[in-house]
Amino acid sequence: MKFFIDTANVDEIREANDMGILAGVTTNPSLIAKEGRDYKTVLKEITEIVDGAISGEVKATTTDADGMIKEGREIAAIHPNMVVKIPMTAEGLKAIRTLSSEGIKTNCTLIFTANQALLAARAGATYVSPFLGRLDDISEPGFRLIEEIATIFKNYDDIHAQIISASVRSPLHVEQCALAGADIATVPYKVIKQMIHHPLTDEGIVKFQNDYRAVFGD
Ligand code: G3P
Repeated sequence: MKFFIDTANVDEIREANDMGILAGVTTNPSLIAKEGRDYKTVLKEITEIVDGAISGEVKATTTDADGMIKEGREIAAIHPNMVVKIPMTAEGLKAIRTLSSEGIKTNCTLIFTANQALLAARAGATYVSPFLGRLDDISEPGFRLIEEIATIFKNYDDIHAQIISASVRSPLHVEQCALAGADIATVPYKVIKQMIHHPLTDEGIVKFQNDYRAVFGD
């Protein structure tokens, strides 16, 4: 499984990218709004930090296929690594079909069922983004959705869409996504930091330091 980071905060992206773990970045209207900066400027800056798939979503207020297609072409023009994120709607599928036919990479988002993922893949989406955290929030096992989509996609050789597990809220979610067979997990910076730490690792570092200092000093 590969890692994307799920943020529009360029400082977090730089920090995670310096660890050598990132294959891409996902943003969404809420994450962009949180930064309060010009949309295209942020996306351009991100493409200059991470050499990987960078997802930028069409405006949340654009709901018709023609509007999404127009915006998608503008997003794609920012950088060759740009991926156009489009919500799972009938109009969104039409936009994915057209943009994909033009060679523009797309990421179909806000997916909550295997059927939605299958439709998006058939429309030509490069990536599908099932949101497992938001399913957990309503007491539905989000990782089951990842398992279902991974199983269905493996059943058909002509399905090439990659699964990006999104709405990841914990290190446990990351492990579940890897076990379920997701291609990618897009992970908030906070969760990346949680994944790094284990109390026994931290404890072991302190013991090594103390034992070393006792003999050799600093
Ligand atoms: O990319 C989708 C992701 O940002 C949604 O996460 O935590 O808002 O459900 P969350």
